[in-house]
Amino acid sequence: MENEREEEIEDMSMSPPSLGSMQFAGSNGFGHSMEFMSQAYLPNMYTEIDIKIEDSNFNQDPPFPIYLKFEDVEYKVRGSQVASTNPVKSVMSKVATQHTMEEDRYKKILKGMTGSIGPGEILALMGPSGSGKTTLLRVVGGRLVDNVKGKITYNDVRFNPAVKRRIGFVTQEDVLFPQLTVEETLIFSAFLRLPSNMSEQQKYARVETTIKDLGLERCRHTKIGGGYLKSISGGERKRTSIGYEILVDPSLLLLDEPTSGLDSTAANRLLVTLQGLAKGGRTIITTIHQPSSRIFHMFDKLLLISEGYPIYYGKAKDAMQYFSSLRFTPEIPMNPAEFMLDLATGQVNNISFPQDVFKEQDSADSSKSVIEYLQLKYKETLEPKEKDENHGAANTPEHLQLAIQVKKDWTVSWLDQFFILYKRTFRARCKDYFDKLRLVQALGIALLLGLLWWKSSTNTEAQVRDQVGLMFYICIFWTSSCIFGAVYVFPFEKIYLVKERKADMYRLSVYYVSSTLCDMVAHVFYPTFFMLILYFMAGFKRTAACFFLTLFAVLLIAITSQGAGELFGAAVMSIQRAGIVASLVLMLFLLTGGYYVQHVPKVMQWLKYLSFVYYGFRLLLKVQYSGEELYECESKRGCRTLQSSPTFDTVNLEGGLTEAWVLIAMALCFRVFAYFCLRRRIDVRN
Ligand SMILES: Nc1ncnc2c1ncn2[C@@H]1O[C@H](COP(=O)(O)OP(=O)(O)O)[C@@H](O)[C@H]1O
Ligand SMILES: [Mg+2]
Repeated sequence: MENEREEEIEDMSMSPPSLGSMQFAGSNGFGHSMEFMSQAYLPNMYTEIDIKIEDSNFNQDPPFPIYLKFEDVEYKVRGSQVASTNPVKSVMSKVATQHTMEEDRYKKILKGMTGSIGPGEILALMGPSGSGKTTLLRVVGGRLVDNVKGKITYNDVRFNPAVKRRIGFVTQEDVLFPQLTVEETLIFSAFLRLPSNMSEQQKYARVETTIKDLGLERCRHTKIGGGYLKSISGGERKRTSIGYEILVDPSLLLLDEPTSGLDSTAANRLLVTLQGLAKGGRTIITTIHQPSSRIFHMFDKLLLISEGYPIYYGKAKDAMQYFSSLRFTPEIPMNPAEFMLDLATGQVNNISFPQDVFKEQDSADSSKSVIEYLQLKYKETLEPKEKDENHGAANTPEHLQLAIQVKKDWTVSWLDQFFILYKRTFRARCKDYFDKLRLVQALGIALLLGLLWWKSSTNTEAQVRDQVGLMFYICIFWTSSCIFGAVYVFPFEKIYLVKERKADMYRLSVYYVSSTLCDMVAHVFYPTFFMLILYFMAGFKRTAACFFLTLFAVLLIAITSQGAGELFGAAVMSIQRAGIVASLVLMLFLLTGGYYVQHVPKVMQWLKYLSFVYYGFRLLLKVQYSGEELYECESKRGCRTLQSSPTFDTVNLEGGLTEAWVLIAMALCFRVFAYFCLRRRIDVRN
């Protein structure tokens, strides 16, 4: 079936497309004729289905062209019903029809957007804050699907997973790992997202070209930084974010407020870069809040939005003319973007306007009247024109329609993804792992405990009690430090995870496994280092078997605690709440750990079975002490076995090591649950 389709596409690509079918929109339609773009793409048609080959020729061939059309796009969100403070009104609203109630629950964000854009063009979405620019961008990018009305097509084909892979989305916030350098960020992205049949050199070459294209040579070895870390500039950060997206050569590039926070020179430079990318054959849509006049003139098309309604759509350079035809003109020299934003907010200070604006409207709210007037004029003049052009335009050539439905291959195998992600996670977190303070803490506490329990022994009941106290302290220390070390990982990385999952970069299971295994390095290293010091200072049994078994038990406790921490973190996914949940559960586990109280009332005994501290502590006792060992030999009553000591009243020192199995099972279960919690919490549909 698939083969048949591939042949079909190949056939079509070989026969030259008829000119008639290629003629495309005129003045307000796509800036480049369809003929030109599809011809440019033809030399590559033989390999069109084999995207891998097409990809490997990156930067030599034009990107796959995407013609985007959207018509009457509406979007609404479910909000809480507006509660009235007036009790009479509230009763009235309750008796309203079911239909009205249903309507009331929704708030319309986009109220009928129409437009089109093709390769080589930049469409700017402009409007005051809250007007719906980001929402429209997300709808067009296929990131908002529910409650969207209207028709959006890509080469006359509706959105589908194959289209998704051809879209690059640069969000307003730059979500980049602060510990990685610009170059590392791009390299990891390239290795995760480029198909496995591309050679390493080709991937490096693509990173190199991207760095050059975006002018990032100067900061390539600088860490992204942020917060307290010394960092690259805002413009460089934005360009890195764009580079991250264009590495995979998207045909449609969507950018949300790329210039916000940049000075005018950096903003201008960024726009020049975007122009270059568009000229290369990409379709670009960008939202922009308040562009300078220089930037404004770089846009090909403009969609001016006011409160979710369009008030202008067309060529950017014709916008001023349109408004002056409606008799809206600035009275003083004004940046066109500023003028239009004033109109979009209904502010007409220093702007002359036609008097019929207030004819039918209540003049009390002048800005509302202006907006409604402009919306009406748009509906009367521009909208029908754009719709006519959209409908009148020929369909996209069939080979482009078919090709956009073929999923661009990113098939990097699970294992390959794992190795790349493991490496990246390690790079991003290694500073944290080998933090000097952590090392000093482990060393300091091991030394302190070693001195307090210096060469402790088990000759008397009191000495046994002391040493058992140390055992429990080791349990507490590693349980708490591993739970707290793991509980914040997912809440902190949530933003990265959401972004990368939305871009389909890797499987969630790969992320989880590489994260947990990577962190395990720290959760194994520190307890080992700690035990190497403490074990011999505190005078525990000097046999290799005993040492390794004790170490094994401590590591098992650490790894189980890490799993528990991950589970709590993934379950709440909030930095503040993760800490609270972890400390509460930790307290419960410690209390039921079997040290403070051994003889628990029957009704409460089930609690200890949930507590892995309980199993960890028993395991430590079992590996360190043997029941037949004699002590109290110097007392009047003579030698007794350790098992007879009241300290081991509820522990059978001779029992097998079932606790080890229970801990292993718990460590696995916590992780499985953590993974499923993460799955539920990282919802990338919206
Ligand atoms: N999921 C949502 N729930 C409720 N309101 C929303 C949601 N998404 C957007 N909005 C509202 O829609 C309006 C437009 O938002 P947005 O597209 O982000 O505006 P812009 O990007 O133009 O500043 C805002 O008033 C915002 O509060
Ligand atoms: Mg926005």
